[in-house]
Amino acid sequence: MSEELQLLILRTLDTDGEIADTGALLLDGQEVDQLQVLGALNSLGVREMVSHTSLDRERLHLTAEGEQISLHGSHEARVFNVVPSGGTLALANLAGIVGAETAKIGQGQAFKNKWIKKDGAVLKREVESIHDKVREELQKVERGELNEGKEVADLIKRKLVVKKKSTTYHVTKGPNFSTTIQRLATDLTAEMIQSGSWRTAPFKKYNFAAAGLAPEGGALHPLMKVREEFRSIFFELGFQEMPSNHFVESSFWNFDALFQPQQHPARDAHDTFFLKDPASSSSLPEEYLQKVKKVHSEGGYGSIGYQYDWKRDEAEKLILRTHTTSRSTYMLWKLAQEPEFRPVKYFSVDRVFRNETVDATHLAEFHQIEGLIADRGLTLGDLIGFMDQFFKKMGIEKIKFKPAYNPYTEPSMEVFAYHNGLNKWVEIGNSGMFRPEMLRPMGLPEDVRVIAWGLGLERPTMIRYGISNIRDLLGHKCNLDFIRRSGIVRFDKELI
Ligand code: PHE
Repeated sequence: MSEELQLLILRTLDTDGEIADTGALLLDGQEVDQLQVLGALNSLGVREMVSHTSLDRERLHLTAEGEQISLHGSHEARVFNVVPSGGTLALANLAGIVGAETAKIGQGQAFKNKWIKKDGAVLKREVESIHDKVREELQKVERGELNEGKEVADLIKRKLVVKKKSTTYHVTKGPNFSTTIQRLATDLTAEMIQSGSWRTAPFKKYNFAAAGLAPEGGALHPLMKVREEFRSIFFELGFQEMPSNHFVESSFWNFDALFQPQQHPARDAHDTFFLKDPASSSSLPEEYLQKVKKVHSEGGYGSIGYQYDWKRDEAEKLILRTHTTSRSTYMLWKLAQEPEFRPVKYFSVDRVFRNETVDATHLAEFHQIEGLIADRGLTLGDLIGFMDQFFKKMGIEKIKFKPAYNPYTEPSMEVFAYHNGLNKWVEIGNSGMFRPEMLRPMGLPEDVRVIAWGLGLERPTMIRYGISNIRDLLGHKCNLDFIRRSGIVRFDKELI
């Protein structure tokens, strides 16, 4: 339909030069709806094939009654016609012949016009012929010959004619006028560039007024926002970030190098994810590996070791790392390979994996925040003092320590913080001084001490965003809208 209409407009313009009033357009002999005309003009206008201006005017339309009169004559004429010339018509019969309405309206008007008169109970003609002015006037209105004046006002008053607003259009040819309609390209394609057809292709004009779709930006996950905050604390304190992108690690770097015995329960498949393919690593530093083997099985550096048969196979097994301390160990070993010892402050915030049962507060993967300081002659006092400073940066004023056990630290301390909201001490991290059995096989000088600590990223994040179920933060049940809306975090208030 719209294509047909567009073609009609173009052909009419082609033959007539212009369209004075689209009200006169006929499609298959029918008047066309001017709203559809406007649609057609707009789409031709975008291509600059035509241009148009609106013609707003009031048009007269015959009402249903007006149309009846135009076809069959006015009520008064119909009454006159049934009164016989030279004879009479019983008044009582009139409505039966012309209908009640015509009888009622027509009689009065015919009396007024002095066409008929009442003689007792009968009607008689007063004139021999009449001129049905109303019918004629209505026919003139229909033909557009009568548009205003007293007659029109009377017709409107008699509800035979109504005024209706109408908009039609005056149409002229545009600069791209043609009698055929070309498809407009909306996008520049690779094919158009290759064939060179873009040079002549007709493009659809951009509609800069279109409302368009609101762009959906990406958003950092709340965990990543809190991670950024921790990173900036570490950077403020002069730490360097360790490359921590080794999700897959050998048992050697994750456990053995940390002086964790091979029969330790944490190395069980119940606690650790083992890789199937490839299942083992063959690229372990041989000289260092031999020293680790020795310290486990025989001891050294003042230690008797674990006194068991250390197996290379076990150390070569590939796993998903269970803590980021595997990377701290690797970085310390690298440091020990440098010709001169230099003090370092390292940190990382990255993902670790444990074969745990998933519940409201545990997932099989989570993030660890880990830091270490290596220098000559550090003491437990340095660790306690540093923890104080570090947690103050997170807005935690009160901390205390509890002796703990890790295979790779001695002494080891769990860190507790006082939670003002909960009014109790909550565990926030783990810390200690790496054992000589771990540091000396690497080749670090005897007086070098390493203080280290680790804490989870999820817990402070959940507290910060008021989430009680970890599955609202991570995984397939997490609401993406929450991720988008969550703001960045500042450790200006108490975090835990
Ligand atoms: N690796 C320990 C953990 O997984 C954290 C820790 C790091 C403890 C460094 C002491 C020293 O909980």
